[in-house]
Amino acid sequence: MSEQSHRAIGFGRGVLVLGAMAVVVGLAALPGLPHPEASAADPDTGAVVVTPVQGPSWLHHLGLQVADTRMGEMGGTGLAPVTSRREPTLGGGAEGGFRGAMHRFLNYFNSDRAKANRAFNATFELTGADLYRLNCRSCHGPDGRGAPPEISSLLDPVRATTVAGIQQQMAAKGRTIPDALAKQLAAQAERDIRDRLRNGGKKMPPFRHLRGDEIEALLGYLGHLAGVPGGDRAGMLVPQSAARVGEHVVKGTCHICHDATGPGGRQAGMMSGLIPSLQSFPHDYSLNAVIHQVESGSSRMMGMMGGGMMGGGGMMGSGSRETMPALPYFTEEEVAAAYFYLSEFPPEP
Ligand code: HEC
Ligand code: HEC
Repeated sequence: MSEQSHRAIGFGRGVLVLGAMAVVVGLAALPGLPHPEASAADPDTGAVVVTPVQGPSWLHHLGLQVADTRMGEMGGTGLAPVTSRREPTLGGGAEGGFRGAMHRFLNYFNSDRAKANRAFNATFELTGADLYRLNCRSCHGPDGRGAPPEISSLLDPVRATTVAGIQQQMAAKGRTIPDALAKQLAAQAERDIRDRLRNGGKKMPPFRHLRGDEIEALLGYLGHLAGVPGGDRAGMLVPQSAARVGEHVVKGTCHICHDATGPGGRQAGMMSGLIPSLQSFPHDYSLNAVIHQVESGSSRMMGMMGGGMMGGGGMMGSGSRETMPALPYFTEEEVAAAYFYLSEFPPEP
């Protein structure tokens, strides 16, 4: 068994007191983990279906380089809100919510795979705010303002989904419109947002992995950001699993820049400008290394040195190496969920 197949994992920042600070992961055994109905979850909380990430990164799909766009780097430097960091679960579900599930998963990882797997697939609930952070924040920013003109603000389009919002927007232009028409326009504006999530936009990726109830919870939170009443959707909770959280992080954020499959970290060091594939993370990097990369982004040194230097005297690239923004608003557990999602649901070309 190669040395790469055993890696010590554990959270580096010392924020977490894990019973499993030095869980040794035998990756060779990972693909064999059973995937029972767990991903179909508990009958009374609803199915939490999880699917692998597929295909080229969104930037590759668009033919862009990281330096050409603000997409993926608008998340800001703030940390995850305290509610998410401490206790993402406001409702019922697995003991200890998401954090509890992740800690149980790591604890049992070596000793009891069935228990580890149950913990990874156990259901708990998250808010629309969490879903926004995992799926939208890297482009639209913590407040929804984006980076116009490339990434338009979503605040006005969301305000336009309410009659009051339409009327305000009209009043600002010195016009009034009848309620019935405002209602029609508001309904159309909401359909536009739903279509955009299903099909994407000009530069925005589609979000086909989002379920109906997740979209409702998200719309509730978008209303909150835009300062319009969210109605029944305000504060809505939706069933999730740790595997599902990993899927959101990867599909909503990492896949903007990282291809699902392809060369990995070891080759990336040798080839200037190569962004390692998602598939390579659990094989080529320790969990701590991935947590560190997400927390800090590409090191400043690497950005300044440009391409090639990291390859132990390999090629000296001419173009400067692309850099990754820090994404400190993900918690360590969320990055860990992404890491194990990638090993349990292997990415597809
Ligand atoms: C990879 C970057 C990216 C991510 C992630 C992203 N968006 Fe967007 N979004 C854009 C861009 C770019 C635009 C501007 C229009 C276009 O090019 O499609 C946009 C536009 C929008 C608009 C419409 C603004 C208008 O002018 O009508 C809404 C609403 C929106 N996004 C919602 C969301 C939601 C909700 C999420 C999370 C589920 C999300 N976006 C995630 C890039 C992104
Ligand atoms: C805006 C683009 C972008 C996004 C979004 C992004 N990355 Fe990266 N990532 C890069 C680039 C560019 C590199 C190559 C430069 C480097 O290694 O720092 C990279 C490198 C990495 C590396 C290898 C670091 C090393 O030392 O070799 C890891 C691990 C990584 N990213 C993890 C992630 C994870 C996990 C996510 C999602 C939470 C993510 N990235 C989101 C652009 C991005």
